[in-house]
Amino acid sequence: MSIVYLNGSFLPINKAQISVLDRGFMFGDSVYEIIPVYSGQLFRLEQHLQRLARSLEAIRLANPLTPLKWQQVLQRLVDENGAGDQSVYIQVTRGVAERDHVIPPNIVPTVFAMSKPMKCERAQTGIAAVTLIDFRWKRCDIKATTLLPNVLLRQEADDRGATEAILLRDGRVTEGAASNVFIVSGDLVKTPPKSHLLLPGITRDLVLELLASAGIPAKEAEIDEGELRCAREIWVTSSMREIVPVVVLDGQPVGDGRAGPLWERAISLYQAYKQALAVPQAANVS
Ligand code: PDD
Repeated sequence: MSIVYLNGSFLPINKAQISVLDRGFMFGDSVYEIIPVYSGQLFRLEQHLQRLARSLEAIRLANPLTPLKWQQVLQRLVDENGAGDQSVYIQVTRGVAERDHVIPPNIVPTVFAMSKPMKCERAQTGIAAVTLIDFRWKRCDIKATTLLPNVLLRQEADDRGATEAILLRDGRVTEGAASNVFIVSGDLVKTPPKSHLLLPGITRDLVLELLASAGIPAKEAEIDEGELRCAREIWVTSSMREIVPVVVLDGQPVGDGRAGPLWERAISLYQAYKQALAVPQAANVS
């Protein structure tokens, strides 16, 4: 039975309860994070906590814990669940109050975290994706739990036999339904620049850092639909899936229909970075 954290206590998941009046349930008035854990260590914790802080600020919710307290809570959660490779989920909701759209004063947030063994979702051979119109709201930079559009888009992809939806808004790529998007155009790796229309992915930033450190030309730039369709390689990135090559787009092969050479380099840089971190060290989030 997994152990979860709820409002200051660690307890078995079947004992964790929240009110039906919680605004996370009523309005989706809440934000979340998902953090990978490798060999018992929280990966890019500082960056995930910074994004959580930004999401909370964007929805006008005071951060209930300091970075140090978050680190202590999450590390204990990981340890309670047997260390190893895990995925930690954090959710902070506005809290419990009588239903009213206006934010009630002095409301106490609900703070929840759980962890489960990491499902190995890495697809070495590549996945199929479909393009879909991005019909989400205009604050996709907030990691909000209001994910109904993402659920419907991912389901539409699934219905069409694809693993991910690559989203287009006004003819330009924003991101995947649950990932960021990279393409290889000529010899240049490109990913859309950060904006309110996409989540600033922690994996995305790390991939850009790793490419830069290896001298591989990469740029944050708009990608239009035509360029996507002509790309030599397409990758999607996320904390749980790392870097995944898209080998079929809308039923057509991407490049030669196999994972490309720049993806091979990117994923080996990523694995080398993870391995270097496997040496025990103190996370720096104070
Ligand atoms: N989602 N864009 C969207 C819409 C996402 O949902 C995600 C990840 C990403 C990638 O972000 P990161 O590299 O920080 O994981 C981009 C998570 C894993 C999820 O909701 O399950």
